[in-house]
Amino acid sequence: MTIKHYLQFSDLTLSEYEYLIERARIIKQKFKNYEPYHPLLDRTLVMVFEKSSTRTRLSFEAGMHQLGGTAIYLNTRDSQLGRGEPIEDAAQVMSRMSDIIMVRTFGHDIIERFAAYSRVPVINGLTNEHHPCQVFADVFTFIEHRGSIKGKTVTWIGDANNMLYSWLQAAEVFGFHVNVSTPKGYDIDLRLVSPDHSHFTRFDNPADACEGAHLVTTDVWTSMGFEEENAARKKAFANWNVDTDKMRRAAPDALFMHCLPAHRGEEVTAEVIDGPQSVVWDEAENRLHVQKALLEYLVKGVV
Ligand code: CP
Ligand code: NVA
Repeated sequence: MTIKHYLQFSDLTLSEYEYLIERARIIKQKFKNYEPYHPLLDRTLVMVFEKSSTRTRLSFEAGMHQLGGTAIYLNTRDSQLGRGEPIEDAAQVMSRMSDIIMVRTFGHDIIERFAAYSRVPVINGLTNEHHPCQVFADVFTFIEHRGSIKGKTVTWIGDANNMLYSWLQAAEVFGFHVNVSTPKGYDIDLRLVSPDHSHFTRFDNPADACEGAHLVTTDVWTSMGFEEENAARKKAFANWNVDTDKMRRAAPDALFMHCLPAHRGEEVTAEVIDGPQSVVWDEAENRLHVQKALLEYLVKGVV
């Protein structure tokens, strides 16, 4: 039997996303109505964290509980992973005791190796190269606020990081365009994008990238695992912030998104992130709802 993993945004098709978006809407409504819904009764999610987290842990743990199941939190420090147990061995053991596993780790190769040895579905809770659950929540949030994202323009300002690569995959799946502006020396790694580059355009000037955009989004200048580069990045990224001048270049009803945690005064001004175009709290909340739909789908299939 082939197991369906969710390691990258491109692991699901448009029709699967359409199904999941509908499920997420229904599951969200049940949550808002305090209506119990326990399709994963007696099922267990194992969560492996090799990096810090607030939203990802909370949304998966609360989500699994709300679906009637249990979530177990493991981190590198307190498990044998921190003492050198091979990832392949950990995957075999964990997947014999659980129904689904979420992993947050460093290199994407680690989660691929883990998935190859897992008997149960594996979800990417963030790697250095991808953060599909967050971008799924963001696409869902855009659709909730503005309707279809097909044909729209999303502007990415800042680092070519895990969030950007997941946005670029989402653009191919959903049929929208990404305007990307990264500082010199922090360009897109073309090995991480598909050979068809028609779904994104690169801009040297971050303000020009915002022209007419329906959504402007950014992320931290220094992602987890790159902390030693922090001082150099602060200098290089100084102009790659989202402020009101850049938002003025976007469409008048443009949304602002940030996966959080944010650094006000660095990649985004307080005026923008705390302003009327920002939907960052909806994005964070929607992690819960889309991941519940994903957990249900990966464990039980179409219901
Ligand atoms: N956005 C996101 O994944 O947040 P955490 O790092 O807090 O999980
Ligand atoms: N790009 C950030 C996202 C955090 C949710 C990081 O990888 O640290």
